[in-house]
Amino acid sequence: MHTERIGSELQDTLVELSDLASQAKQLHWNVTGRHFRSLHEQLDELTAEVRSAADTVAERAVAIGYAPDARVGTVAKESPLAEIPNGKVDDVAVVELVVRALDTVAARVTRRVLDLAEFDLVSQDLLIGILAGLEKQRWMFNAQQS
Ligand SMILES: [Fe+2]
Repeated sequence: MHTERIGSELQDTLVELSDLASQAKQLHWNVTGRHFRSLHEQLDELTAEVRSAADTVAERAVAIGYAPDARVGTVAKESPLAEIPNGKVDDVAVVELVVRALDTVAARVTRRVLDLAEFDLVSQDLLIGILAGLEKQRWMFNAQQS
């Protein structure tokens, strides 16, 4: 088994999902505007789903003999996601930021799904399930853009 190769694909996904969950929670707290209530709740659902996905990815890494690393310092150093602003963020900007972050992660996970076809179908299947969830979330946030 190509443990290092598969493990690094899972590790990169773990970093992205960890950052995404952190961003979603930050925006959950700081969103303002007319759509505060629905976005506040939607962002908590996103956080929970993404944290669960991160756990699944990390545990798959362990199962194949790879030690996952989602330390805050590692995530801060390795994440490809754009930083979100500090402080209050209005609802329109929140939707844009979340859709952009979901697009970034989904594009990267899609590439990994294709790569993993050659190395590990179980990890591939797992990432396909996560990708479906990310795309559903993208739809639900994007639908709020007029
Ligand atoms: Fe909360």
